[in-house]
Amino acid sequence: MSHKEMIVRHKLVDRLCHWTIVFVGLVTFLTGFSFFYPSFQWLSGIVGTPQLAKVMHPFFGIAMCLLLAVMLIRYYQHNKWNKYDLPWMKAVVWVLLQKEENIPPVGHYNPGQKMLFRAFVVFVLAFLISGIMMWQPYFAPMFSAEAVNWATLVHSACGILMLLSLVVHVWMACWIEGSITGMLYGKVSKAWARKHHPAMFEEHEE
Ligand code: HEM
Repeated sequence: MSHKEMIVRHKLVDRLCHWTIVFVGLVTFLTGFSFFYPSFQWLSGIVGTPQLAKVMHPFFGIAMCLLLAVMLIRYYQHNKWNKYDLPWMKAVVWVLLQKEENIPPVGHYNPGQKMLFRAFVVFVLAFLISGIMMWQPYFAPMFSAEAVNWATLVHSACGILMLLSLVVHVWMACWIEGSITGMLYGKVSKAWARKHHPAMFEEHEE
């Protein structure tokens, strides 16, 4: 396809950030879930031993949250609610049934993606605050045992909820053909933009 037929959707820095988050996030999640139950301990094998998992999990977690925070700041403008979102939400049944002729136009992101974006903001903050409160031997001694217990509950609940959100995120990425290629190479075809994000396409053409 000629370059004229392509539109930049994700800049190089954002793509590098995204795929680094996927790698760092994988290590964080596998080591984190290895602490949940004794039968999950084998997951710590990704870094070698359970002891190493305990040491590395907070550092990988911080790296994941900071990189994700950078990406969320850079994508903030695209994720503001706008005039296209309510009509799209009302027509969500048509989206699920893939009746494209009945789906109102959306901009750079659809409301489903925008809701996940907000969930990621909450997870980053909750993981960072609760994780620091639980971090032995550095910060946990500064808090009461009850506060550390609450932090552990919040941290674990966020781990499960974020995993579920990521399943939805990856499902959406696989469902919309061409979206993963966009995140890999940065560009999408004009035909893709016109079909999935018509308002973004029109803004680009103005
Ligand atoms: C293998 C796993 C993953 C795949 C295949 C994937 C795929 C994608 C794709 C294709 C997009 C672009 C969507 C579009 O252009 O409309 C995207 C955006 C994004 N991804 Fe992922 N992703 C994965 C994992 C993750 C993880 C682990 C995180 C964070 C913890 C994440 C956070 C984001 C964010 C914040 C955006 C921007 C969305 C927005 O601004 O609303 N992704 N991802």
